Amino acid sequence: MRIFLAGATGVIGRRMVPLLVEEGHEVTALTRRPDRAAALRASGAEPVVADALDPASLAAAVREAAPDIVMHQLTDLATGDFAANAALRRQGTRNLVDASLAAGVRRMVAQSIAWIYEAGDEPADETAPLDLAAPGERGTRVAGAAALESAVQEMPEWIVLRYGEFYGPGTWYAPDGLVADMARAGRLAAKDDVVSFVHADDAATAAVLALTWPADCAVNVCDDEPAPGREWVPAFCAAVGALPPPPADAGRQGWARGADNHFARKHLGWAPRYPSWRDGFAGLAGDPVTR
Ligand SMILES: NC(=O)c1ccc[n+]([C@@H]2O[C@H](COP(=O)([O-])OP(=O)(O)OC[C@H]3O[C@@H](n4cnc5c(N)ncnc54)[C@H](OP(=O)(O)O)[C@@H]3O)[C@@H](O)[C@H]2O)c1
Repeated sequence: MRIFLAGATGVIGRRMVPLLVEEGHEVTALTRRPDRAAALRASGAEPVVADALDPASLAAAVREAAPDIVMHQLTDLATGDFAANAALRRQGTRNLVDASLAAGVRRMVAQSIAWIYEAGDEPADETAPLDLAAPGERGTRVAGAAALESAVQEMPEWIVLRYGEFYGPGTWYAPDGLVADMARAGRLAAKDDVVSFVHADDAATAAVLALTWPADCAVNVCDDEPAPGREWVPAFCAAVGALPPPPADAGRQGWARGADNHFARKHLGWAPRYPSWRDGFAGLAGDPVTR
């Protein structure tokens, strides 16, 4: 198939390119940066330089590529600017959906997040309502992801991947990443908030499988073991050479409940190579530094 991959140089996109090429797909890979074109070409994709926030140049890029499927792995998180990321989710997605519809594309597979659900006692499955009334910074994040999801649903066929927290080489949770730096600086608290993780390699595999998943569904893509900080933080600290922090006495925020991956695992045939962050974190120390 002909695939247009927006976000091809990101932490998931760059893992997807070789997987897609290996499966025989023709991949057009979007970047804003001409200096990244050679690496994309070397990994088997046809690079195209355009900004997703510039509707005309994005529309031209999609039209020229004439893809069967558009993969949306756009985020703006390299500097941890959540407001910029929410703006990209909102406006970049709007532009990408418009460009795709104008080019006659049928299917879009898009990256969302698995911590946008309302408060609850159990890990959320995909039927749980979104936390649209959340205030403050969380409200901005939820609204950005919700805007992305609702724009993607305008496509004739859509799949929304609600990813858990990425870890692995090139992520914030790599030994050279932001969260590892926080841990070594003693600024990572072991709270009761529950997190669902997913290794970046497993996130990429799910996106490739989603090319052929039944249309029109949101899917939690996360590992089997949602866990409170008081469990995962000490294991993460050990993996990245930080001293474990004392348990924090904060209580769980209701929305910090983790996500249930039953649908992806039992009905869509996704089997993560790292079913638990426990195994994945243990391998972090040996991972190559990628930043
Ligand atoms: N679920 C999660 O836990 C989650 C999700 C996403 C990110 N993160 C974290 O955020 C960190 C940064 O993510 P990242 O490495 O993927 O980088 P990023 O800076 O978020 O960029 C991701 C992709 O989006 C593209 N992009 C961004 N803005 C664009 C625009 N206006 N037009 C066209 N393309 C645009 C980038 O392309 P160019 O820069 O080449 O143009 C890149 O391919 C990761 O290390 C990860 O840990 C976590």
